[in-house]
Amino acid sequence: MESKKVELNIFRYDPQASLGPHYDRVEVEVDADMPTTVLELLKRVQQEHLPDLALSYSCRTGQCGSCTLKINGINRPSCKTMVEGNALAIEPRDNCTIIRDLVVDTEGDLERLLEGRTAFRTRRKTPHRVSEEEYEKVSDMRECIECFACMSTCPVVKASSAARGPLTMRGIAQLAFDPRISDVKNHLTEALKGGCYLCTTCQKCTETCDKDINIQKRVRQLRRALYYDKSLYKKLPKNIPLVMDTIKATKNILNADNTERASSWAWLIEDEVDVSSLINRKAKVGYFVGCVTSFKPSVDIIAQNAVKILHQIGEDFTILGPDEFCCGFPSYLGGVDENFVQHNIKAVSDLGIETLIFTCPGCYRAFKVNYPERIGGSLPFRVQHFTEYMCDKLDGGLRFGNKVSMTACYHDPCDLGRHSGVFEAPRRILTEAGVELIEFANNRQYADCCGMGGLLMVADADASGKVGVERIRQAKQTGAPALATACPACFDQFRRNADGLDVHEVTDIILKAL
Ligand code: SF4
Ligand code: SF4
Ligand code: FES
Repeated sequence: MESKKVELNIFRYDPQASLGPHYDRVEVEVDADMPTTVLELLKRVQQEHLPDLALSYSCRTGQCGSCTLKINGINRPSCKTMVEGNALAIEPRDNCTIIRDLVVDTEGDLERLLEGRTAFRTRRKTPHRVSEEEYEKVSDMRECIECFACMSTCPVVKASSAARGPLTMRGIAQLAFDPRISDVKNHLTEALKGGCYLCTTCQKCTETCDKDINIQKRVRQLRRALYYDKSLYKKLPKNIPLVMDTIKATKNILNADNTERASSWAWLIEDEVDVSSLINRKAKVGYFVGCVTSFKPSVDIIAQNAVKILHQIGEDFTILGPDEFCCGFPSYLGGVDENFVQHNIKAVSDLGIETLIFTCPGCYRAFKVNYPERIGGSLPFRVQHFTEYMCDKLDGGLRFGNKVSMTACYHDPCDLGRHSGVFEAPRRILTEAGVELIEFANNRQYADCCGMGGLLMVADADASGKVGVERIRQAKQTGAPALATACPACFDQFRRNADGLDVHEVTDIILKAL
């Protein structure tokens, strides 16, 4: 038998004792060939090293949900988490009150959950035989073991007491979409009261859910049902219908004149690039600028940077200008069908574009994931995030001649990382541009949201800001003096809440390093 040593740093706290919160360090030898769960290891620690360690568990088989802990920064059921590597940081799960050591008070979570269940289920008057197809539609939600990992993970639960959180939304959706239930409206009303718009759709809850329950998808379905219900529509947070109507009317989310798409920022770089000559011309590469980057003065620097970069590296490219309509992503997040999928696909195809590149991860995700779903097939062109495109250029021999000297942490935008699977391209670009990267404690698929996604900013700007402040706090914990990201919304949020951090968007670093 080959053995290995595992070092555990275990959170300890007894409110009755004079010693405050602290960590006990314990080293345990385990059989390297025998998979062990974190819970089994902690039980050994309890038996052999720390007999007074307070620990909560019951079934040990992923059924009861009582053993959730924060393990190396991730909230998960400890009986379903295998020991990997040689070091474990063990803490109580987030977003709740500690009773002692690793045992927490679940009352707050339970209250949020039960509030969402005040609408009692009413069965249809006539029996309804549930078809296999109908069952499939709700079956995933029935898998929940109420382990509260999602509630501990959700950045909005942490930021807003009005948010009943992912577990509650799952419960409401399970009832609202159950084909045997007749009082759907009551459940939708609960969804509204429980803040189904208080969700950034960041998908982090699903990443930590041992049952893979896709809660943000259910949140969007609830929003859709609410939007298309004539009586409940009037009760939506007032900015939601406003934004949806704006997109329909103006073809952008900022209520701007869409004919100004390129011109609103082009004059700022007219000494270097004649942007008007790039609009609507035939080219193999197209740059989809996006509404926010086109019209929001605080982030249009990203459009300026991207165009300057493409110009400097000699790319033959085009932009759609007034022919670029909202990608439809905000409508999708609001559960609304109306968007401009066919228009945008045609506008891109008509210019002979073979590769369409994006600086906005939301637009990128819309084209990469939603558009193929909507048209039921692949797009007639390739889509790339700007950082993926730049990686191809590096592979083709492009080099950064003026490397920057900077230490920064990199924030993974949810739509680029968790939702689109692009984690390494921005890191490679930043590193090759000369940035010394320091990782957040929670990075890549476990990164926290910046707070701008999922229409949270539209529904509750205060909660959105608090989520951003928390991510900035985490950035400062890395010790890096600067923060880099690859998204206009994250960039905007972090700059507003920077608290002394030097905030960058990947395009400004690329431009400096070229
Ligand atoms: S949805 Fe998943 S993470 Fe949340 S309580 Fe249920 S099983 Fe746990
Ligand atoms: S998708 Fe993100 S914001 Fe929404 S419930 Fe899940 S963790 Fe919370
Ligand atoms: S002990 Fe029951 S789920 Fe882990």
